[in-house]
Order: sequence, then structure tokens, then C-alpha cells
Amino acid sequence: MLFLQLVLLVVLLPGGDSEDAFQEPVSFRILLTTSFYNSSWTQNQGSAWLDELQTHGWDNKTGAFIYLQPWSKGNFSNKELLEVEELFYTYSISDPSIYHNHVSEWQLEYPFQVQLVLGCDSHFGEASVGFLRIAYQGSDLMSFQNTSWWPSPKGGSRAQQVCTVFNQYIFSEIVQKLLSDYCPRFLLGLLDAGKAYLQRQMRPEAWLSSGPSPGPGRLLLVCHVSGFYPKPVWVMWMRGEQEQQGTQRGDLLPQADGTWYLQTSLDVKASEAGGLSCRVRHSSLGGQDMVLYWGQPHSVGLVFLAVTVSLVLLAGLALWLWKRWKTHWRPQCTGFPVQ
Ligand SMILES: *[C@@H]1O[C@H](CO)[C@@H](O)[C@H](O)[C@H]1NC(C)=O
Ligand SMILES: *[C@@H]1O[C@H](CO)[C@@H](O)[C@H](O)[C@H]1NC(C)=O
Ligand SMILES: *[C@@H]1O[C@H](CO)[C@@H](O)[C@H](O)[C@H]1NC(C)=O
Ligand SMILES: *[C@@H]1O[C@H](CO)[C@@H](O)[C@H](O)[C@H]1NC(C)=O
Repeated sequence: MLFLQLVLLVVLLPGGDSEDAFQEPVSFRILLTTSFYNSSWTQNQGSAWLDELQTHGWDNKTGAFIYLQPWSKGNFSNKELLEVEELFYTYSISDPSIYHNHVSEWQLEYPFQVQLVLGCDSHFGEASVGFLRIAYQGSDLMSFQNTSWWPSPKGGSRAQQVCTVFNQYIFSEIVQKLLSDYCPRFLLGLLDAGKAYLQRQMRPEAWLSSGPSPGPGRLLLVCHVSGFYPKPVWVMWMRGEQEQQGTQRGDLLPQADGTWYLQTSLDVKASEAGGLSCRVRHSSLGGQDMVLYWGQPHSVGLVFLAVTVSLVLLAGLALWLWKRWKTHWRPQCTGFPVQ
């Protein structure tokens, strides 16, 4: 995992200026989940994603797409978008009957869920032909390849039966067009329209803290790195130039503003914590790693702050006293009648 991140960084860092096409693979996915509660009641939920970023919602009453980013329409015309909306509407809202009608034949049991994922990938400015898969109760049922539906090996006889029916009813030219034309074209248009947003560089903020003590005489040093974008980041506990092999990397967590958060910890003897540092490498830092030292310079910083604040306060006090003394001194000297 770490190695992978390193490779990504090596690829990423030199390509710092973001004029180039996207270097890393980017995927576009449309997810549609239909819950069948009984023979007359179904519920739909749909969304579309560019990697981890949701680009589209879906109104499950009208079947209309909801454009969540200003660039979510990519370069498609409203006419083309309506065509695609109509396809989804037909499949999901107006016609879930294909499942209802075959409940006993396919041995489906209410309540059940059918999930559909349609997507395509792009790499170095080229988009792949898309794919379409359907799952029943979370496990693969069938996929669309090369003009027809194919049962998933895990799907058993149910998958074969469903495929037979789908190959009769679901117009394969339309699906084929969605996958080989619409999806790759839409993805490239989307990447282009959203370029400024998707290729933005957000600098991380980093800070240190100590975690729950791992045992007597030991410390858990925690390095927090927050608010960075894009996702690839390298964070390591160091002693001088030496990477500390015990560094534990947490999961990369998404934040509400579309940036990422990572926590990296190191379990050390309390007596050996001095001289350790947390080093952060990220494409937004322009090749200049961020380094945070455990203990010493941190407290030097605090002392410096305390001294500065006290000096400013003292200077303010002195000035105030001096002004006060100046204004009160004159009248006292000249104006006091001697009685
Ligand atoms: C389906 O479920 C809904 C909600 O529980 C219920 O109102 C409805 O009567 C059910 N229909 C059938 C045919 O069972
Ligand atoms: C639409 O989705 C919401 C959840 O996002 C669900 O509560 C609602 O029942 C759905 N409506 C239909 C008609 O599927
Ligand atoms: C898809 O089908 C065409 C003919 O229908 C065939 O020439 C081609 O090799 C197939 N491709 C794959 C990957 O199966
Ligand atoms: C949108 O952009 C893609 C990729 O640059 C291009 O192939 C396509 O012709 C453009 N226009 C439409 C309407 O898809």
C-alpha cells in the first residue's frame, strides 16, 4: 500500500503543473439500487460518482438527474442528457415488473435488492469502453459484454435464467451504445469540464498529539494531516533522515469539503521520543516536505509565543503609563493653585 502511494507520488510530483491530462486512472460509476419489498412496492436509489466524489444525485420519483457540481453536465447537450435519463427511468421506475413477473421462476424472495453499476474508466486522457453489471442481494448476477448479457459464474442457474430473459427484452443496441459511446464520451467531457476543480492542489495542515499510552513508559505519537487534495500523500515518522519502520498508517478519510485526512502513529519508549519528526510529502507542497518535530521545537515555538505576547503587553502598558503620566503631569505642575 505504502509502496503504491510512493509510486503514485513519484508519478505525481514531477507532473506538478496540472496542464497535462489526468495521469492516474479515474473511474465514473452510476449506481442504482432497487429494493423490492412486495409485489407492488419498490424503492429506487441512484447516484453517480467520479472516484470518491459524488457528481450526480437522482430524483427517484421523476427519474431526473440532480447535478451536484457546476460541471456535472460535462459537455453533453440537454437533449443527450434527457435521452440517458429516459433510459434509466424506463429501466428502473416505470418497469421493475421484469423482476416482479419472474419472482417464482427465478426464486427471488421478498424483500430483495437488485443493484446495477454502469461505468467506464479513463487513463492518460483515453476512456475505456464501459461495463454494466447487475447483482442480486449483493452478489454478482450477470454482466453485459460484447452485445449480450452473460451470467456470472457465482450466479448459478438463476443467473442463466435471468440472462436469457434479459437478452430477449433489454435492447442490446441501446446498452451497447451506452457503454461504448455515451459513457467514455461523457467521462472525458466531465473530466474536462471539472478540470479546475479536480486538479486543484490543497495544502495539508499537520499537527502532532499523543494518543492513548500503549503501556508503561511508552508514548503513542500521532501525526495528523488534514485538508489535502489530491488524495496521494506520504507521511512518515523519522529520526533525522531515517524512516521509522514502526510507523502505522491509518485509513485515508474523506472530509465534507472534498479534502482528505490521514493519521499516522508511532509507538515509542517515552525516553526516545525526542528528536523524532513527522514528515509529510504531498504534491501541493511543491517538493518541499513539511516536517514537524516532536517535543523540542514545538515547545520552543510556544515559549517564543509566550515571550512575544508578554513583550507586546508590557510595551502597551508602558506606553499607556507614559501617556497618562504626560497628560496628568502638566496640569499638576501649572494648574494647581497653591493654597
Ligand atoms: C406492500 O407493502 C406495503 C407497505 O408495507 C403495504 O402497504 C402493501 O399493502 C403491500 N402490498 C402487498 C400486495 O402485499
Ligand atoms: C427515494 O429514496 C429515498 C431514500 O433516498 C427513499 O426514502 C424513498 O422511499 C425513495 N422513493 C422512491 C419512490 O423510491
Ligand atoms: C465480440 O463480438 C465480436 C463479434 O460479434 C467478435 O468479433 C469479438 O471478438 C468479440 N469480442 C470479445 C472480447 O469477445
Ligand atoms: C465532449 O468531449 C469528448 C472528449 O473530449 C469529445 O469526444 C466529444 O465529442 C465532446 N462532445 C460531446 C457532445 O460529447
